[in-house]
Amino acid sequence: MVIFELGPTKQLNSVIIDFFRKKRVEDINWKEEVRTLEGQNLLLSYTVASKMITKHRFDFSYQKKFLELLTIHLETVKANRTLIYHALGGLCKREKEPEQYHDVFYPVFEIGNIDILTEVNMIILKESTKLISHGTTGLNTWQASQALADWAIQTTSVKNKTILELGSGVGLTGLVISSSTPCNKYIFTDRNKEVLSLLKYNVKHNCDETLVDENNPEGGVMLFSGLVKRCKVEVRKLDWPRLRQGIFNEIESIDLIFTADVIYDEFINLPFLNAIRMFLDNGTKAAIIAYARRNSETMRALRETLVWMELKYKDLETVQPKYLGWEASPTVDLIQVTK
Ligand SMILES: C[S@@+](CC[C@H](N)C(=O)[O-])C[C@H]1O[C@@H](n2cnc3c(N)ncnc32)[C@H](O)[C@@H]1O
Repeated sequence: MVIFELGPTKQLNSVIIDFFRKKRVEDINWKEEVRTLEGQNLLLSYTVASKMITKHRFDFSYQKKFLELLTIHLETVKANRTLIYHALGGLCKREKEPEQYHDVFYPVFEIGNIDILTEVNMIILKESTKLISHGTTGLNTWQASQALADWAIQTTSVKNKTILELGSGVGLTGLVISSSTPCNKYIFTDRNKEVLSLLKYNVKHNCDETLVDENNPEGGVMLFSGLVKRCKVEVRKLDWPRLRQGIFNEIESIDLIFTADVIYDEFINLPFLNAIRMFLDNGTKAAIIAYARRNSETMRALRETLVWMELKYKDLETVQPKYLGWEASPTVDLIQVTK
């Protein structure tokens, strides 16, 4: 787990965090300190010129826009811009051909608390530069996965629990939960080969210790296990329609199922809810399904299938961004499914 040490001044810390969270550059509050050359130097050394950024593939177009809008701001307040122009020139030289993947940063901390913090947990994920690639949507972080992670930190429901996630994608939810809550164990699962390979990479590179690293993804369902702080994490292959009773002999009992943004097509509902039912039949207490309200038909079909399968469900209170900087619109719904 990367611990990111914040800059030396409170004013600049908020700009630095906005940068890492890729806040809309037009909405950044540039603070007075950036007007001085000393402030600009500090800001650059914690953002575009920092080791953290130069050693990763952080979105170049965002970095450029950040510096471009900073120069416009400095022009408006009649401050010196030479340092920023110089950094912009250096950035253009470093810009490489767009690649299939880039690095996305997720600082985890209580928003509004930045003034009293000196460091934050920083999750760094390799993600696709496109929303759909290799025929899957699983190579990016989706909004509901951030909402689910935020909800898990805000409630105490994950304390000492073993959680299994269905359709983990690149792994954000579980990495936030394992690093920032007192959960006992987190099992990431997915079925797609490319997704599993990126998921394993991301989990491994955010882990503090590797316990098992299985090189052959076809060799078995368990691909990786390690420790994030004190939480044991595992990456497993799990395809919902292929879920068999045998898996319950292999894995320890699961307290909770988590799943985010996997409901986008009503044909998925049946194999997905059948998998949840198998877990509930084998001792799991509840499944928490998070989804962004995009398609009302798909959501209606999900609820109808739940009723038809005689599974109980209840809507949980709407979660707002508190520890992660995600977009609250469209609303993310969380439903709890039990037997
Ligand atoms: C839109 S992505 C969401 C990923 C992640 N939960 C997030 O919110 O960022 C949907 C994920 O569900 C996975 N998925 C779809 N059908 C699946 C199945 N039958 N078994 C397991 N995973 C599946 C996909 O591979 C993909 O990673």
